Amino acid sequence: MNLIEARDLSKVYHRGSEEIHALNGVSLSIQAGEFVSIVGPSGSGKTGLMNILGLLDAPSGGTVMIDGTDVTRLKERERVIIRRDSIGFVFQQFFLIPTMTARENLELPLLFSRKKPDPEKTETILEMLGLAHRGDHLPHQLSGGEMQRVAIGRALMNDPKIILADEPTGNLDSASSEKIFDLFRELREMGLTLIVVTHNTDLANRADRVFTIRDGMLTGTEPVSSPCT
Ligand SMILES: Nc1ncnc2c1ncn2[C@@H]1O[C@H](COP(=O)(O)OP(=O)(O)OP(=O)(O)O)[C@@H](O)[C@H]1O
Ligand SMILES: [Mg+2]
Repeated sequence: MNLIEARDLSKVYHRGSEEIHALNGVSLSIQAGEFVSIVGPSGSGKTGLMNILGLLDAPSGGTVMIDGTDVTRLKERERVIIRRDSIGFVFQQFFLIPTMTARENLELPLLFSRKKPDPEKTETILEMLGLAHRGDHLPHQLSGGEMQRVAIGRALMNDPKIILADEPTGNLDSASSEKIFDLFRELREMGLTLIVVTHNTDLANRADRVFTIRDGMLTGTEPVSSPCT
């Protein structure tokens, strides 16, 4: 069974009297354990699609099934629980709390899910991130790549099934970006399902499948060769 199945998604934004058709009939299926990337020009609808798949926003039309449940029909209260327990988010800006250490930033989601921190688990995740020696550092004492790895660790804290990352390497140099994608591959080997938006076609091609989106429509599901900026 597909873990994520989107059918005929549309998204219309209203700005004054103007209608912006950001998504125009996007359908896609992603299996559990797949690592897919999404590429496309600026303004093509990538973030809009991610927000809908991550239950941060509702589509104007169409449905999203996650694990066989039509999440577009759920009450917000139920959507919050799926978002919190099944989905981890990673953004271009790392959104770390500047006054908290790497370790404290990792454990932050536990506050919201009212779980007790498990020091052993935190250390295991720090180690997997290659940050065992950085647990006590504040964000400003970390490199960009290290900050993003902390943000990925934070996304893993509630044991999600799905990681959604919207341009996670947008602020990073190429070596740090490579490391982030190495980590994504590692997470995939651990059974997570990953959906990653990127403008970098070389990195995009490291996913199992590449979706190309243009003008709010999926135009391809093959490796890409031309830059998609
Ligand atoms: N809240 C909003 N209100 C009005 N229009 C919006 C809103 N959010 C996005 N849009 C428009 O919808 C279209 C798709 O936006 P989206 O953010 O999904 O693009 P994107 O592919 O993520 O672009 P980028 O690569 O620059 O991040 C754009 O034309 C954008 O201007
Ligand atoms: Mg975007």
